[in-house]
Amino acid sequence: MPLLDDLKQPLTEGELERRRFLGLLGSGALGIAAVGTGITTIKYLEPNVFFEEEARFAVGRPEDIAVGTVLVLARQKVYVVRSEEGFYALSAVCTHLGCVTRFERERGGFFCPCHGSQFRLDGAVREGPAPRPLQRLEMRVQRGLLVVDARKAAEPDAVLRVT
Ligand code: FES
Repeated sequence: MPLLDDLKQPLTEGELERRRFLGLLGSGALGIAAVGTGITTIKYLEPNVFFEEEARFAVGRPEDIAVGTVLVLARQKVYVVRSEEGFYALSAVCTHLGCVTRFERERGGFFCPCHGSQFRLDGAVREGPAPRPLQRLEMRVQRGLLVVDARKAAEPDAVLRVT
């Protein structure tokens, strides 16, 4: 049995080196696989979501906001207007293709930089191509503060009267 006889032979220095090298190579591959698995597992456990701006937020106390004020809440993309009749909140998102409008006090309205739509202070379309007024948003007074809920649409003429 020449094969069994070969196993009984002492290993040469070259063969020992080769075995050590292969052992190190195997350990390295296992280590890399373990690290990769660990990273993948941690990534899997992390929530994979985008956190949107809070959709419901307090604006301030009604008595602190004078008639004629237009609050520009850029982060939430919302305008809060205090008219003679009361308060209303408008989405700043253009009803044409969704660009964010900007308030221009001297021109008395909201303007879309994308295709030129213009809206009056009450949100009505002054000039197209926007097909609809800016969306009014639900608003209420809660614990003495004006609170806007940007997730909820309000009637087109909704005004919050505060006494
Ligand atoms: S997105 Fe506002 S005019 Fe087109």
